[in-house]
Amino acid sequence: MSSVKRCGSSRTRRVPALLVGALVLALTGGPAVAAQQATLHELATTHGKYFGSATDNPELPDADYAATLASEFGQITPGNSMKWDTTEPVQGRFDFTKGDVVTDFAARNGQTVRGHTLVWHSQLPSWVGALPPAQVEAAMTHHVTEEAAHYRGTVTAWDVVNEPFNEDGTFRASPFYTAMGTDYIATALRAAHAADPDAELYLNDYNIEGLGAKSDAMYTLVRELLAEGVPLDGVGMQAHLAVQYGFPYEMRANMQRFADLGLDVAITELDVRVPLPADAAELATQSSYYQRAVQACLAVGRCVGVTVWDYTDKYSWVPGTFPGEGAANLYDENLRPKPVYDAVRAALGGGDGGEGGDPGVLKAQYRSNDARAADNQIKPVLQLVNTGGAAVSLPEVTVRYWFSGDNGGAAYSTWCDWSPLGCSTVTHRVVAADNPRPGADRYLEVGFTGGSLAPGASTGEIQLRLNKTDWSNFDEADDYSHGSGTSFADATKVTVHIGGRLVWGTAP
Ligand code: G3I
Repeated sequence: MSSVKRCGSSRTRRVPALLVGALVLALTGGPAVAAQQATLHELATTHGKYFGSATDNPELPDADYAATLASEFGQITPGNSMKWDTTEPVQGRFDFTKGDVVTDFAARNGQTVRGHTLVWHSQLPSWVGALPPAQVEAAMTHHVTEEAAHYRGTVTAWDVVNEPFNEDGTFRASPFYTAMGTDYIATALRAAHAADPDAELYLNDYNIEGLGAKSDAMYTLVRELLAEGVPLDGVGMQAHLAVQYGFPYEMRANMQRFADLGLDVAITELDVRVPLPADAAELATQSSYYQRAVQACLAVGRCVGVTVWDYTDKYSWVPGTFPGEGAANLYDENLRPKPVYDAVRAALGGGDGGEGGDPGVLKAQYRSNDARAADNQIKPVLQLVNTGGAAVSLPEVTVRYWFSGDNGGAAYSTWCDWSPLGCSTVTHRVVAADNPRPGADRYLEVGFTGGSLAPGASTGEIQLRLNKTDWSNFDEADDYSHGSGTSFADATKVTVHIGGRLVWGTAP
């Protein structure tokens, strides 16, 4: 019997009906009374999620920082003040003063709190590591019990165990693993549940955002825990991303497989660092990573929300840990929102602050360069236009021109004949459709090796050409994406994808 608890109303702050009305007006460009733009959290609540931020005690006296933390975010996570070295620095002597400052801040501002973290190999006081193994279980249970009980009613979700895995999916060595083997995880979860039966209990780790060995290990672990009836409500995916390492592989599908076990999922520590100084293309990639992470959460019903690992570069942990990298957050060091903030707003369905724009969206335009629709070559000319308010990273973008091979040979040659981008930055290939349709059993897939497209900018034309290697003729007249116009027009039968997600056009 599974002991999975259903997540109750504590998941997100309730949005008052009047605010929802104002929000709708703001999102639809309604009357001037709705001019104040919706916050990230308000936008997230329209999807039934929260949007939160980490924070830390030394930052809270910064009035400007605290004002934005209070207004823009509906959930906060203490970055350090609920960790073991702070809360039980000496065995049996508990100090919750710093954590209480954070929960008091949340209470004053109507925010929920994710507790972070009860059992972790890091930021452990030295006395824990010095215990004889036979005493570790009792010490851990005592710690979990005291802390979870102290915060009962104020912490809505706990990272009960943090970072249990190595990168290859083996269990990480820690005093707890050494003393108890993998049983320490179930023991910690049971102790937390006994101390606070209403809190949502999570396991939390990094590099488990995409499909891979480490997330497979977490998947295997949580399935076993659920089968044993261990109280577990969710999996937290930290999501400390970096533009140079690519976006997690199949993040949405990975989140969905945990959700399909009956668990909640949450993005718990999102940030996207870039090598400094950051160039425009890297910042566009950063925006797209933030957007894709948010979109993955929006696409998974059991994803309860997104927390950024602090919202401003002013208080980021990144430069101290990764010298030469930074600019990882939504606001700059002067607490001003950066373009990546607008990109996240756009991903949450927010406009650009009052003009009713739809940032971060591309459209495809097409013209035919082919007077003969029945010869042995297809010659589409495409261009992309950024109709949004945020730059788009071109390596994230693919375009599909759908056509039929008309029963010729299966091999194709493809060409970029000219583009102001430089054809060397344009990739092209023919792909067999997963769901072949008349007039669309294949598509010419166009991609980009670099660059970014600023708001309002166009790629300029990309002159493309393809033929079958047996040089048999096509009948283009019935091809899905084909048109006969020789001047550029918006082409809804040419599809555009960002990070694999359809952002323009209708697939056949
Ligand atoms: O409080 C002391 C201060 O007295 C001293 O002068 C100063 C000098 O180094 O250190 C201060 O402690 C620092 C502490 O943050 C509080 O600011 C530690 O050195 C520093 O190592 C610690 O870093 C924290 C880190 O966890 C430790 O692993 C970061 O702030 C915190 O954001 C980070 O958060 C972790 C999550 O818990 C788990 N996931 C990864 C994430 C990022 O590393």
